[in-house]
Amino acid sequence: MSARDWRIGVAGLGTVGTGLLTFLSERPHFAPAGGKARVTGVSARSRTRPRPFDISNLPWFDDPVALAQSDEVDLFVELIGGSDGPAKAAVEAALRAGKPVVTANKALIAEHGAELAALAEAHEVPLLFEAAVMGGTPAVKMVREAMVGDDLTSIAGILNGTCNFILSEMESGGRAFEDVLAEAQRLGYAEADPTMDVGGFDAAHKITILAALAFGCAPNFAAAEVEGVDQVELLDIRMAKDLGYRIKLIASAERGEQGVTVGVHPTLVPLNHPLAQAGGALNALFIEGERLGRVFLQGAGAGAAPTAAAVAADIADVMTCASRPVFQKPAGELVRFRPGDRSRNVVRAYLRLLVKDEPGVIAAVSETLAEAGVSIESFLQKPVEDAQGVPIVLTTHAVSEAVLAAAVERIAGHPAVIEQPRLMRIART
Ligand code: HSE
Repeated sequence: MSARDWRIGVAGLGTVGTGLLTFLSERPHFAPAGGKARVTGVSARSRTRPRPFDISNLPWFDDPVALAQSDEVDLFVELIGGSDGPAKAAVEAALRAGKPVVTANKALIAEHGAELAALAEAHEVPLLFEAAVMGGTPAVKMVREAMVGDDLTSIAGILNGTCNFILSEMESGGRAFEDVLAEAQRLGYAEADPTMDVGGFDAAHKITILAALAFGCAPNFAAAEVEGVDQVELLDIRMAKDLGYRIKLIASAERGEQGVTVGVHPTLVPLNHPLAQAGGALNALFIEGERLGRVFLQGAGAGAAPTAAAVAADIADVMTCASRPVFQKPAGELVRFRPGDRSRNVVRAYLRLLVKDEPGVIAAVSETLAEAGVSIESFLQKPVEDAQGVPIVLTTHAVSEAVLAAAVERIAGHPAVIEQPRLMRIART
């Protein structure tokens, strides 16, 4: 194979973009094929904003679309972010100009992946996005390439470093949510708009992409059920721990006879489960296949250097001319997955109530659950110093989510129940 040099245009110079410029300036010959990767153009919202990498000697483009179309660029790297707007316009322009594209943009791929795959294939150029899921930890290539010989059945993981950091710090330091979020932003884990993180949308984009790769279908972000960590209280973190669990934001996808169910939910994970052990900003992933059984992967899911390493790995793929369909199958064969029937979901659950401390409350709660056929597995009433009422926590045996939700709605209406009950799933082991 003859080594050639590649001229690279980089649009978006935030945490990952400047991490990539630093890497390419230090290691221009990093690709196994031997050629040199040279940055021949950059674009960002602000040219003058202080950055850890000096861009004054690099050709500047005000418009990322012009950079994508430039004759001085062979490979376009999109690190702008956002599902639409300049990121999408620039990626489309590069593909139409017949240029390979590498992106870290999970929103773009989760929401427009199928149409972009068709565009890439029509122009016979690669569209690669390893950094979009789990940052530097190679989940995309693992699922799309190394596991293609298996029939995958389920995926469950911690896919947002900011939320994992927040939950870990709230538990270990008893710290307030806002305080920990501000630290995650300082450390460069959080998205420009942190509601993407704490609302669960970032994890939902990532699990949508993994589901598409694992089950050979087009990404269907609209079918994901999304809950974030913004409603998780310190009280629940403490109660869960007393019961032997840790609360994690779990993104999951399951292939069933009815279709594919994709969701992101705060979930109680047994303390000895590997997903409960992944602390701080770490990401972790369980994948289950018919032949392979379970695979567990853990690593950095955010931050400048790890995410830039994943972008670099995709650049190396382009430079070595590695080529395969964007989503495991050719774009013309991709169909949006049929969402599974959620009313059939059966889970074990955690229910936390805050009630007035008066006679008959526990009896009323357990009667409502018994009438609905919900079987209680464990029960805990534990006065807490700074709470207005008395917290009651119970866990259930496996129950239909729809049946449990209806019973909890009735419990919420009881006059002794002070606030909306908190319901969370318990992870399968
Ligand atoms: N905001 C993301 C996270 C960064 O916290 O995981 C990587 O996508």
